[in-house]
Amino acid sequence: MNLSGKTVYVTGAASGIGEAVARRCHAEGARLALVDRDAERLAALAQSLSGDAKHVMTRVVDISDETAVAASVDAFAEQHGRLDIAINCAGILGPTGPLHATDTAAYRALMAVNLDGMFHCLKHQLRHMHAREQGSIVNIASAAGLVGFPSAAAYTAAKHAVVGLTRTCAIDYAEQGIRVNAIAPGGIDTPLIRATTCATPEGQQMIESMHPMKRLGTPQEIANAAVFLASDEASFVTGSVMAVDGGWTSW
Ligand SMILES: NC(=O)c1ccc[n+]([C@@H]2O[C@H](COP(=O)([O-])OP(=O)(O)OC[C@H]3O[C@@H](n4cnc5c(N)ncnc54)[C@H](O)[C@@H]3O)[C@@H](O)[C@H]2O)c1
Repeated sequence: MNLSGKTVYVTGAASGIGEAVARRCHAEGARLALVDRDAERLAALAQSLSGDAKHVMTRVVDISDETAVAASVDAFAEQHGRLDIAINCAGILGPTGPLHATDTAAYRALMAVNLDGMFHCLKHQLRHMHAREQGSIVNIASAAGLVGFPSAAAYTAAKHAVVGLTRTCAIDYAEQGIRVNAIAPGGIDTPLIRATTCATPEGQQMIESMHPMKRLGTPQEIANAAVFLASDEASFVTGSVMAVDGGWTSW
């Protein structure tokens, strides 16, 4: 699974799953574009990665801004002459509670990131990969992209849509040698879940109990799966949605 010399574009790289993916890809020898809207954490991550600075590009980008996404993908692909791999991790939890009480502006803000943002990333990554007829993309969906998740209708809808984008792009680009897969993580111990569902001991216990393995996953466990799917080790895998969820979706 050596990514030596591969060019890898990672969104949501400043925290949680994206950070673990970025660190793992860096350790595997990839040339990285690290993209996030959090400038401070992104700079701290880049500084903590050892080695040749030419191998790590950082861009402060809000993925809901298509122009900014396109410019960052173009800049990275032009620097290295190609885009080999993209791992799309950026996402937010958004509004929770019953749908009838969900604020419509909060719903739209969630969709702007988790769905429109994913669309923007895929569109411009595929534009480069399509031109060279090779590439591999991994989208971080969610177990909530496969089954219903209580009190998070907007998030669940967006993640189901990410699964739909993944499967359709897998079909549309298969003959051009571009693979597109998704990961459906269960509850993963990251700042996102610590600030929301796991903010109270009861919340943490509730989410842990939803997993047959009775624990949260780690960001590294998602990075392991993402690097496998992105790499040539998964050369016959496309359109798959890999549950990495401690058995959650097997109940
Ligand atoms: N943590 C979980 O339990 C869990 C479970 C299933 C799926 N996921 C998904 O995994 C992905 C990563 O989540 P995480 O838990 O690592 O969260 P996190 O909050 O730790 O990291 C998310 C990163 O994405 C960035 N980001 C958010 N919106 C952005 C935007 N508009 N443009 C650019 N960057 C943006 C944030 O700044 C942050 O650095 C998300 O898509 C999330 O939905 C998480």
